[in-house]
This record gives sequence, C-alpha cells and structure tokens, in this order.
Amino acid sequence: MNRSHLESLLKSEEALFHQTHPQSHALYQRAQKSLQGGVPMLWMIRWAGSFPVFVKEAHGAHFTDVDGRDYIDFCLGDTGAMTGHGPAATLAAINEQAAKGITLMLPFEDAISVGEELQRRFGLPLWQFTLTATDANRHVLRMARMITGRPKVLVFNYCYHGTVDETFIVLDEEGTPISRPNNMGPQVDPIHTTKVIEFNDVAALETALSAGDVAAVLAEPVMTNIGIIHPDPGYHDELRKLTRKYGTYLIIDETHTICTGPGGYTAAHKLEPDFLTIGKPLAGGVPAAVYGFTQKVADEFVARLDVNDSDVGGIGGTLAGNALSIAAMKATLENVLTPEFYEKATALQEKFTAGVESVIAEFNLPWIVKRLGNRSEYWFRPNPPKNGGQAAAAIDHELDRYMHLYMLNRGILMTPFHNMALISPETTQADVDYHTKVFRDAVGSLFGK
Ligand SMILES: Cc1ncc(COP(=O)(O)O)c(C=O)c1O
Repeated sequence: MNRSHLESLLKSEEALFHQTHPQSHALYQRAQKSLQGGVPMLWMIRWAGSFPVFVKEAHGAHFTDVDGRDYIDFCLGDTGAMTGHGPAATLAAINEQAAKGITLMLPFEDAISVGEELQRRFGLPLWQFTLTATDANRHVLRMARMITGRPKVLVFNYCYHGTVDETFIVLDEEGTPISRPNNMGPQVDPIHTTKVIEFNDVAALETALSAGDVAAVLAEPVMTNIGIIHPDPGYHDELRKLTRKYGTYLIIDETHTICTGPGGYTAAHKLEPDFLTIGKPLAGGVPAAVYGFTQKVADEFVARLDVNDSDVGGIGGTLAGNALSIAAMKATLENVLTPEFYEKATALQEKFTAGVESVIAEFNLPWIVKRLGNRSEYWFRPNPPKNGGQAAAAIDHELDRYMHLYMLNRGILMTPFHNMALISPETTQADVDYHTKVFRDAVGSLFGK
C-alpha cells in the first residue's frame, strides 16, 4: 500500500468530516468548558473524526446527528444496543415499570422470571444482578478468590472484560507480563494479582495453573476485543479439563459472545463454566448485567459468607437489581433476543461478510473477514490470528482510521477500536448492501480503481 497516498486520503476525509459536521463541532467546543475532553466519558473522543458526532435521535438500526445526517449504526453501542435502538417491547416495559417504581432495594416478581429464563438459556442454576458486565466480572473474581483462598486470576493476552483491575496486563515482546500501557493508577500492579498467557496455548495454560495459586480463569469463549479470535478445535475441552484438574474456577464472559445465539457461545457449544457473566444488550441498553454460577459454587460461597456484612463485602450496589433494569431485561429476553432474531440477524451477517469478501477478492487484497453469529470484522492481514499478541501486532492505526472515517462521512458507523459490525433486529438487506458499496469505494480510492 502506498502510505503517502493513504495519508493524503486521510487528510481529505478529515477536512470533509469537519465541513459536514458544523453543529457537532459547535457542541464539542461548548462541551470543552464543562466536560473533561468535551465528552461525558473519555472513550467518546476515540472515534475517527477529530471530534465526536453528537447524536440527535436513534431508532432501530439508524441514528441521526445534530447536523441532520443519517447513519446506519453497525456499532450499536459496542453491543449495548444489539437489540436495535428502542425495541418496542422493551420501551413499553420501561414506561410501565417507571410509573410503578424504579429502585427500592427490594425485589419485584419480575426478577424471578428473569432468573428462570437465564437458567434456561445458560444452564446455570443461580443468578445475581449488577448494573454492568464490569461489575459482574469484579464480583465473580471476588467469589472465586474467597472460596478457593487463592490469590491469583488468569486472563488471556489482550483480553478485555470491562474496567476490571486484574485484567489490565499484557505480555511484552519477550513474553514477560507487564501492566498494560496506560493502565491508569491501578490499586495494585496486576503482575501481582494476575497471570497472563496467550489464548489457544494449552501448554502455557497447564504451566500457569499447575502452581495451584489461580482462583479462576476469566475468559471470553471467543476473544472479541482485539478482533474476533476463535478457539482452536478442542481448546475449550482442554481449558475445562485443566481448570478442573488444578481446582481453578472457569468464568465465561458472554458479554459480547451473546452474538452467537440466545444462550451465547456457552449454550451453542455446550460449555460447562462454573460462573457466567453477561451485560450490555440484556435490557435493550438500560444498564443491567448478571452473573450465574453452579449450586456447588453457591454452597461454598454461603458457607463462608456472613450475610450481616454483605453490604460491605465488596459485592453488590444499591442500584443493582433495580426494578427498571429487571423489567427491561425481562421484556428484552422474552421479545427481542429471541431465537428468531438470531436466525435472521445471523443470515444477514453472512451476507455482510460475503459482501466484504467479494471486494477483498476483486482487489486481491491480503485481508480477511471473521464472523461470529451476528458479529463480523475485517482484518488487514491474510490469515486469522491465533491469539491476542498476533492480533495486536496486525493493527494498522492509520488504515483503521481511514476506513472508519470514510464510512462515517458516508453515513455508516462501525465499532471503534477495530472494524467490527453488528446486525440488529432492524438492520436491513439495503443497509448491508450500502455498506458493501461504501466499503468497495473506500478500497477503490486506496488502491486506485
Ligand atoms: C467481554 C466484555 N466483558 C465485559 C465488558 C464490560 O462491559 P461494561 O463496560 O458494560 O461494564 C466488556 C465491554 O466491552 C466486554 O467486551
């Protein structure tokens, strides 16, 4: 690829973005005076434009911005809005529940229906609620350490499980664990709390677990946060076998892999985790997350728990399990994240993938597309990475930025930090075809056709 051509294309896209988003720019200038970085949460400046697009309204698979521009949303809040924006059943439940009580620190009956549905989908008997998947992960790590009395957790290189202190650790070029660059003010350097190995490396897993000091492995069943990285055939069997052999709990984080099907990758591939965590789309975008565990875990936990101190034990939160989140979750599980949705969205995602593949073939590019259920992603490398280290090495920030900005300027929002697209219940064939066309144009302008 001609890098100076890429650089000049990027400059023109930046100028076009500036020119066509005057109202967003004006709001961004105003926001600088009251919001750190001009945004409510710092990642919101990590988009391809030199300032963020301010949203006016979002419905279904689309949103409009304050400049009156329409976008197809393939980012969908990085999975939080995988249900589409404002699904009718969820909105109705939110309105109804809001009028009857939002938060009380007391249960409503709906919580039981949700527990029963989670049991059915994921096969674990007991459930608890939080507001975010981050908290779900934090809580199960505490439970696992408490029960086993072991100090360490194990994660995979370049994993992401939310803002969970123990997980911000990577392997450097020599394979030595280090605190992840820009890990901001950790309470404890994660090299003291965490072992980190590459995904798909069975030998490294056995070495790490055999010391007998690891309370839990925290794993996405397919890595999704440094691109989609599938497990090698048989890897999950080994992971389960070795965690059992060394008395280590297995936590499966389904927060993104719920794109696989109604019971996530766990149900689709008959995994047998000790704990399962999930958040994001469960309540159609209303903050809600859950964690489930086996009866054995529950018995071990209760045997060590003094309920009188549970409010200061580091697990919980006054807004966790609030009636609004639970009503939204019940409605979303019953009406939106249904088997019919997955069937339709997965079929459409196959078409999205085929469209991208046709352009890659036409231009004979050393690129690939990977898919998991209704999620897919293109990679600027010729073969799929086997682990986080390989995936991180393949990142081309400039090319990423160009592809994102080219799309954004033409009304398509891709997931930031990588080239990922999700299909919602309301995404259409026309949306997918438009993406294929714009992707082809972006590639054409790069490679001169
Ligand atoms: C696999 C996984 N787990 C947990 C989280 C944390 O979700 P939240 O930021 O909603 O707490 C994320 C967020 O991207 C994630 O990708």
